[in-house]
Amino acid sequence: MEKTNVLSYIVFIVTFLHISQISNSTKPTPPIFIFGDSTADVGTNSLLPATKIRADFPHNGIDFFHSKPTGRFSNGFNSADFLSKLLGHKSSPQPYLFFLKRGFTTKMLRGVNFASAASGLLDMTGKDLNIVPMSEQIKQFESVCSLLTYLKGRDMAMHILAKSVISISTGSNDIFAYFENKSKVDPDVFTNSLITAYECHINALYNLGARKFGIISIPPIGCCPSQRINNGTGGCLEIENTFARAFHSSLDTLLKKLSYKLPDMKYALGNSYEMTINVIDHPQLFNFTSIDTACCGEGWLNAERSCTPDANLCSNRDEYLFWDLNHPTRYASELAAVTLYSGGKQFVTPINFAQLAAY
Ligand SMILES: *[C@@H]1O[C@H](CO)[C@@H](O)[C@H](O)[C@H]1NC(C)=O
Ligand SMILES: *[C@@H]1O[C@H](CO)[C@@H](O)[C@H](O)[C@H]1NC(C)=O
Ligand SMILES: *[C@@H]1O[C@H](CO)[C@@H](O)[C@H](O)[C@H]1NC(C)=O
Ligand SMILES: *[C@@H]1O[C@H](CO)[C@@H](O)[C@H](O)[C@H]1NC(C)=O
Repeated sequence: MEKTNVLSYIVFIVTFLHISQISNSTKPTPPIFIFGDSTADVGTNSLLPATKIRADFPHNGIDFFHSKPTGRFSNGFNSADFLSKLLGHKSSPQPYLFFLKRGFTTKMLRGVNFASAASGLLDMTGKDLNIVPMSEQIKQFESVCSLLTYLKGRDMAMHILAKSVISISTGSNDIFAYFENKSKVDPDVFTNSLITAYECHINALYNLGARKFGIISIPPIGCCPSQRINNGTGGCLEIENTFARAFHSSLDTLLKKLSYKLPDMKYALGNSYEMTINVIDHPQLFNFTSIDTACCGEGWLNAERSCTPDANLCSNRDEYLFWDLNHPTRYASELAAVTLYSGGKQFVTPINFAQLAAY
């Protein structure tokens, strides 16, 4: 009896260790370079004195160690953090601006996060907000590539870059800007301009030596509490969701094309739309009790104001899909990262992030 208990305890520990590390200890952990918007920002904007688009104050970070606001638009970690951990990293890479301030170190060769909240694919998006647009994030990456070449020599640098995972999560802010600006541009023309911008960014990264792209497309942004309050019923804004679906479909076509054109390019495309709609349609499967209301905010759906120190705060945060008017909770971000990492073809194609990393 005693023996069995000990044995099952050991089995439990072994199983638990396996899941918590998930990635195979025999496989080397690939470096990860993260680009994008607030869904992946781990503190970039907190290091930009001139921007107001920041989350370095409570209640952000309430479920972090010591309830510390870290600049993440979340009650804790975000999906960039969870993805890094799933790929085998002990912790999520620091923002590029952190290294810029403290000095470049060899730690940067294991990973850097360039993501900046409110940025988009287009330089125009967030132009007046003093954030780091995608084109600038790529210039910053270029300086990391130079450091790598300086330290390791060109051949080794190219080898390391080819093994690295390039994670990109962006595009929602371009579509938000399109609607906020009441743009007269035809929707198809606008989507094409976003895809053309994406193609330029991927080409630039490829030319620097990147080969493995983990691309995260646009979620059903019309279902964010900030958009739901523009629908009298509190339902999703369908027109924005239509945009998100069209974007995914065009991005899928682009990536297929690029993977034929660019030798050795590999990619995994995460379908954030399907992943999120699946949760919204079946909240009980994931133990969510609220999929339309922000946990932190004010007013209708807690979405008429952003999350500030004196905003309303929910207590059962793991039961909410949305942390604030636009961003998922820590728990929802973890679900998303696990799906990107190990999900099936319904959610991530043609391979998942685990398979991408293993190449
Ligand atoms: C570990 O490696 C094995 C064999 O390479 C693979 O089948 C399995 O999916 C890997 N596990 C994880 C969690 O990546
Ligand atoms: C939206 O309008 C603002 C303010 O005029 C402008 O700065 C920004 O570039 C526009 N964004 C897009 C995507 O057109
Ligand atoms: C508002 O939400 C309802 C569902 O509650 C949906 O049927 C309707 O199309 C939405 N309206 C708009 C303008 O998106
Ligand atoms: C949901 O909650 C039940 C009961 O607490 C638990 O058994 C189950 O594992 C939870 N499901 C998920 C997806 O967390």
